[in-house]
Amino acid sequence: MTKTMQKILIVDDDLEILKIMAEILREGGYSVDTAAGGLEAIRYIDAEFYDLVITDLKMPEIDGMIVLKHVVDQSSDTICIILTGYGSIQNAVEAIKAGAFQYITKPIKSAEILTVVEKALGYKHLERENILLRQQLKKKYRFENFVGDSRPIQKVFELIEKVADTDSTVLITGESGTGKELIAKAIHYNSYRRDNPMVVINCGAIPEELLESELFGHEKGAFTGAHKARIGRFEMANGGTVFLDEIGDMSPNLQVKLLRVLQEHQFERVGSTKTIKVDVRIIAATNMNLISAVDKNTFREDLYYRLNVIPIKVPPLRHRKSDIPLLIDFFIKKFNKEKRKYVTGFTSEATSILLEHDWPGNVRELENLVERVVILSNGDEVGLEDIPESIKEGTKTIDHVKVAIPKRGGVPFDDAVEEYEKQLILQALSEANWVKTKAARLLNMNRTTLIEKMKRKKLYKPAVG
Ligand SMILES: Nc1ncnc2c1ncn2[C@@H]1O[C@H](COP(=O)(O)OP(=O)(O)OP(=O)(O)O)[C@@H](O)[C@H]1O
Ligand SMILES: [Mg+2]
Repeated sequence: MTKTMQKILIVDDDLEILKIMAEILREGGYSVDTAAGGLEAIRYIDAEFYDLVITDLKMPEIDGMIVLKHVVDQSSDTICIILTGYGSIQNAVEAIKAGAFQYITKPIKSAEILTVVEKALGYKHLERENILLRQQLKKKYRFENFVGDSRPIQKVFELIEKVADTDSTVLITGESGTGKELIAKAIHYNSYRRDNPMVVINCGAIPEELLESELFGHEKGAFTGAHKARIGRFEMANGGTVFLDEIGDMSPNLQVKLLRVLQEHQFERVGSTKTIKVDVRIIAATNMNLISAVDKNTFREDLYYRLNVIPIKVPPLRHRKSDIPLLIDFFIKKFNKEKRKYVTGFTSEATSILLEHDWPGNVRELENLVERVVILSNGDEVGLEDIPESIKEGTKTIDHVKVAIPKRGGVPFDDAVEEYEKQLILQALSEANWVKTKAARLLNMNRTTLIEKMKRKKLYKPAVG
């Protein structure tokens, strides 16, 4: 923006000052209007846009404070500078509190005026850039607090990016602590709905009798204890997103009602017959296996298909261990800041223990561990001695072996046990880098027994590559 485009209004009842200031500023390259009093100033401000208003404080009738307040009310894009006589600093302070950018004391000096004006207009430019920057940050929500560079999590990122700005219903599944809620937030804040609320409903935590009124609201007197009418969370979320957490815990009765909202985008408050329409996007999450809940008839099949439009499966942390170092780093920074500590990192021994651990509580468990370690740390590096015993002992989870059950003939018990044994041995071997003594120790097994079993099952170290 060139200087001549920037408009300044000068307000003073002293005509001599008006003349001098206008000259200085016009020579400085600004476009200048002058007003000889508060009333005239307000007329100018209502009619024109000014980048800057410079006003004297003490004027008869309508004084500078009133002009300032008018500017502040009128436009957040106009900056105000106050002119004040020598010895009335107190008034200037009041003016700054009311929103003035700066004050200049009389008698005026041309160099001072130009510097202050330039600074004020430069500040305004900066502030506008900051607002833009903040908007961009919001857009990049996921990069700020959602960490991971493993292939599986990158795939989740890609999916979020693709579906965020649509209205499609999303079903997020994954074990506890894998980041389902974080993903729901990332979707909402990357969607065009981001300026409207994301309302979280924990279907498992609210007692069934209350959940319906929580979701849809109720009229006064709808049930005992309903002293006042209340709007439900679906209405609160209008224009935004409803996040239905622990959807697997919803009662069959409410499942029917939810199905209708998903189909028709409308519902009634409890105790009312008036139909309410809302515009919300639905994201649901669960750590339950919904398909088997459908099989067991505890979850409605039609609702399942309504929800499962875009499935996002979040892998457990043990299946993406390469994210662990990045997460550790991220959480150290987070807790250093929160707890005012200066932990720089984990020693390589400590890190390798964390890489070996299977994290049944997933990212939440890792986050809690880092928090604890940062709080307790005295030095700057976290060593083996700072890691809790329970993690050092190492609890390994064996991935469940799927057994196909034939329609006739029942479970092939011997085959299933055989397969389980094989998987167990393979996992131990892979943990031990195929060092048999080590693998045998992991399995609490004699080394020769292990070798015997490997032979019988034809288990060989895979070729590298
Ligand atoms: N990829 C990640 N990057 C950074 N923090 C993460 C990540 N994944 C999860 N977290 C953090 O881990 C904690 C648990 O995540 P979240 O609450 O989203 O899990 P969840 O899957 O909803 O768990 P639950 O099923 O128990 O409700 C949160 O503090 C979250 O911020
Ligand atoms: Mg959750």
